[in-house]
Amino acid sequence: MKKSLALIALPLLLASCGEKTGKPQGFIAENIDFARQQMGKQIGIIEASGECLNPVKVNTDSTVYYCKYDDWRSGFFPGAVWYLYDLTKDEKYLPLAKKYTEALHEAQTMTAHHDIGFIVMSSYGNGLRLTGNEAYKDAIVRSAQSLCTRFREVPGVIQSWDVRGWQGTRGWECPVIIDNMMNLELLFKATELSGDSTYHKVAVSHANRTLQEHFRPNGSCYHVIDYSIAGGNVRNRQTAQGYSDESIWSRGQAWAIYGFAMAYRCTGDKRYLEQSLKTFDMMRNYKTMAADCVPYWDMDAPDIPNALRDASSAACIAAALYEICTFNVDNPQQYKDYADTIMESLASPAYRAPLGTNGNFLLMHSVGSIPHNNEIDVPLNYADYYFLEALARKKALEE
Ligand code: GLY
Repeated sequence: MKKSLALIALPLLLASCGEKTGKPQGFIAENIDFARQQMGKQIGIIEASGECLNPVKVNTDSTVYYCKYDDWRSGFFPGAVWYLYDLTKDEKYLPLAKKYTEALHEAQTMTAHHDIGFIVMSSYGNGLRLTGNEAYKDAIVRSAQSLCTRFREVPGVIQSWDVRGWQGTRGWECPVIIDNMMNLELLFKATELSGDSTYHKVAVSHANRTLQEHFRPNGSCYHVIDYSIAGGNVRNRQTAQGYSDESIWSRGQAWAIYGFAMAYRCTGDKRYLEQSLKTFDMMRNYKTMAADCVPYWDMDAPDIPNALRDASSAACIAAALYEICTFNVDNPQQYKDYADTIMESLASPAYRAPLGTNGNFLLMHSVGSIPHNNEIDVPLNYADYYFLEALARKKALEE
């Protein structure tokens, strides 16, 4: 993609202003500086504790919730520290990112849910990308083997959740959630690293069946598709975290946009890119998309415009769009412009926390699951992770 003269000249101009004031100037530099300071406080607390704490969110009593390796969100804080290294090139973050990543080593053999892809690719995956650490290759291949134990041959999908706990109350047999698209990157990477095509084939099978079953004619997706394990047919099309079965749960759309863009990168299958773009077009044109491009938690929430926003969806969509604008698409600048608008919003005082507040997370105002009365209008580590990933992708595009 060609860069305009203004895009090239602006960072130079702003860098020179920075030299005069001593403060980082320009959107990217200022956000990196903020992340360095805010995450520095988080890291300071972790290091002082003498434990390998893994921050996820702020509890209702204002304390920070720390998770164990088996939580689907356990890779995001280590991943955010990798991105902090990536963005600053400050080597002091390397041993920290390595330590927080390797604290998750037990996750590699986990077969109890599908989220091993989120966990391992945000931590070990970024570590491999940035350091080439050979041991991380083994961790990724071992984790892909664990994820493949959840592949169900007849429907041709990876089962997202076991049907116990609250999932056991819904009458499901083989629930697959749109989020599962994100876990396929682990499988594509494992084939690239090992030469064993099994992982790639499982990922393609899952992506193809998801393409066939998860989407509505307008490009929006269901959250949960329940399959028959023996027959392979669809038993139910429902939601778990959205407002209703037929509503448009925003984070689900974000997983679809990002997940199918990633699947296109890993396979070159144009249908995946088309689906990613179709879902994004639906979101940006939907009657309830907010002017600042940070979606309501569900685009069909009945209390819009008073409904809560979900910064995590916005951050994930921005990260995806910065990748999409590097593909061979019509008018790539439109995707970058939209991502830039999201980033301007997220970095504004409406969403970015004042320094030293918000449990030392970067972004405020995300929603975990309103139907479960859980994580409502809180900071979440995955919103921060995708914000930093988007910032790194924006930086790479502009520099
Ligand atoms: N993958 C779980 C969520 O998006 O909340």
